Amino acid sequence: MYSWLSAAASRFGAPHARKLAVSAIRLAASLAPADTPPSLRREVMGLSFPGPVGLAAGFDKHGELYPSLPRLGFGFAEIGSVIPRPESHRSCGMDTVTAILSQYPRPHPIPLGISISMNRTTPPHLMSDDYLACLERLWEYADYFAINLGVRAGPDLHMTEHAVVLRNVLTAAKDAQAKFERITGLHRPLAVKIDRNRGDTASLLSCVQEFAFDGLILSGDVESGAEHHALDMLEQVAKMLNDRIPIISVGGIRTPQDAVDRLSAGAALIQLYSGIVESGPFLIRRINSRI
Ligand SMILES: Cc1cc2nc3c(=O)[nH]c(=O)nc-3n(C[C@H](O)[C@H](O)[C@H](O)COP(=O)(O)O)c2cc1C
Repeated sequence: MYSWLSAAASRFGAPHARKLAVSAIRLAASLAPADTPPSLRREVMGLSFPGPVGLAAGFDKHGELYPSLPRLGFGFAEIGSVIPRPESHRSCGMDTVTAILSQYPRPHPIPLGISISMNRTTPPHLMSDDYLACLERLWEYADYFAINLGVRAGPDLHMTEHAVVLRNVLTAAKDAQAKFERITGLHRPLAVKIDRNRGDTASLLSCVQEFAFDGLILSGDVESGAEHHALDMLEQVAKMLNDRIPIISVGGIRTPQDAVDRLSAGAALIQLYSGIVESGPFLIRRINSRI
């Protein structure tokens, strides 16, 4: 039934398919809650996750859906990407997000990550200011932050052209982590989201290791049928990091078997976006019952 509706919505474009998925999440969350067994609990980045399956960034941009997610079996959620100044076609920016998140009781039932990014109009030499503005304003609201350097982060961010700029962003983020922890007494893990399709993965990976980030979100928009590339890449990176930095795998996870494969290949956690649009929110329960 859901696939039929989803196929119909897809014909009218991605925004309609996502809207249908949002309504399905709200409706499904009003039904019987998922029974997430204690065996699925994971300790990652110093946080406790009731399960390893999370909602990927971009789906719940402002966090409105967050309260519905634990009942569906999600073990965590990444809201955003949030940008410092509103851009009508992308996101309403930080004020909208803080207004929504301040209503939620603490501690959160599942870890709430905030993905942060930059405005499209920000010139490369001011890029780190955008990420810092987000960290400063949102520090108290998140359980962890994702520094989004993926393909959807903004203007062309190729490491080959902007190696110094990207390095500056990562250095500034690490400094800010220590500074805001000192000021607020709140520790916030930082994960870096990079994209395996960009061609600059190796340089970014070495920065992530050098600065000892708390997590790596290894992403890529994976077309159906190319999932094995995502798996190969995950295996290579997992070998390289050798458990020093936990990996969150995202991109092309559409079935319970995909989830099993990513977790066996070394991912500590996984995230989904398209799979939920295509198959509906009960996919998370099906995954949880297989892992
Ligand atoms: C419409 C759309 C918007 C997205 N927006 C964001 C975003 O704001 N920030 C981000 O880090 N990733 C964003 N993503 C990427 C997803 O988080 C994810 O990495 C990607 O879709 C691959 O996962 P999937 O194959 O499960 O869809 C977006 C993806 C889609 C389809």
